[in-house]
Amino acid sequence: MPFYHKLGDIPHKRHTQFRKPDGSLYREEVMGLEGFHGIESILYHHFLPPRAARVEDLGPVCVEYADFGPLRHRAFKTAAFPRGGDPVSARRVLLGNHDVTLAISRPTHSMDYFYRNAQAYEVWFTHEGRGTLRTQFGSLPFQLGDYMVIPFGTTWQLQLDSPEARFFVIEAASQIEPPKRYRNEWGQLLEHAPYCERDIRAPQSLETHTERGEFEVRIKVRDRLTRHILDHHPLDVVGWDGYLYPWIFSIHDFEPITGRVHQPPPVHQTFQGHNFVVCSFVPRLFDYHPQGIPAPYNHSNVNSDEVIYYCDGNFMSRKGIDQYDISLHPSGLPHGPQPGATEASIGKERTDELAVMVDTFHPLNISVQALELEKPEYMDSWLEGDGL
Ligand SMILES: [Fe+2]
Repeated sequence: MPFYHKLGDIPHKRHTQFRKPDGSLYREEVMGLEGFHGIESILYHHFLPPRAARVEDLGPVCVEYADFGPLRHRAFKTAAFPRGGDPVSARRVLLGNHDVTLAISRPTHSMDYFYRNAQAYEVWFTHEGRGTLRTQFGSLPFQLGDYMVIPFGTTWQLQLDSPEARFFVIEAASQIEPPKRYRNEWGQLLEHAPYCERDIRAPQSLETHTERGEFEVRIKVRDRLTRHILDHHPLDVVGWDGYLYPWIFSIHDFEPITGRVHQPPPVHQTFQGHNFVVCSFVPRLFDYHPQGIPAPYNHSNVNSDEVIYYCDGNFMSRKGIDQYDISLHPSGLPHGPQPGATEASIGKERTDELAVMVDTFHPLNISVQALELEKPEYMDSWLEGDGL
């Protein structure tokens, strides 16, 4: 999405004859968002794209949510989250609303089928593990810290090169893209952006398979899963060009924006979606005003639920939080450092924390699965001391 890209062989002019070595035509497919008004790519297939030998219903894929109960800060422990299966089947949603869902996946196997989410963009944040994202737009190797951004309708498969992996998965009914305020009217990332086009990895190697056989593609749409059995390999693209394709940005390439006094959460913003943002907290120097307080101020995130996935390092403003935990600070009550954390931060020069934050502009529901991981004592972590 961030810029025009092309891979493989394409004809000089779109919608013109483009022939295989045997003289028959390649099959052109235009993939365009928002009724061809949004970004698009044009792909050239070896086989007819609509062709499926068999179609089967695999049933609904709705998330079961629990009652939120009284308003309070929540935390969930995912260190011992159940593992097993492939990345998509291992995924379990913990928090979600109509705009976005947040899930954890701890796979131990690669996918032996292909997947296409026709109702959502997906971002797979790689906390642990490495492998290859194979798509019809080409392949992308991934490793620790990589955000894999996968658009609507992409046919893909994750191959693991590690015995297991751990992902924080963001799934949204809207496009997930770099923040608008960091782009000029032509889409180019501006000088004050915390990353630029050089940090974005587009597919570089195209897999063009022409073999016949039986190949499974699982398609998510209308909150159901459908199995299509193709009589040809789904990665049959000989070339494509456009703006719509999967890409990777590493959290380790996010350049933190710091200041003399505490900088507000938007400086950490990495992506935007409809009614939510994704932010990256990365190792950085603290505020350098001589009287500065590095710990954040108490804040009321009005009209916003704030979720943080704690990846690595020491998250200095939070007590009772461990690596792999997820906190939820819902709209309706302020939050901030626990007793003593503000004083303890004074004089500190840097942090080595690594975390992913998702702020949603509508309340998040808690899944039944998340309740099993809850740390019920979290709300009481502000009660130590005399309250001053
Ligand atoms: Fe906050």
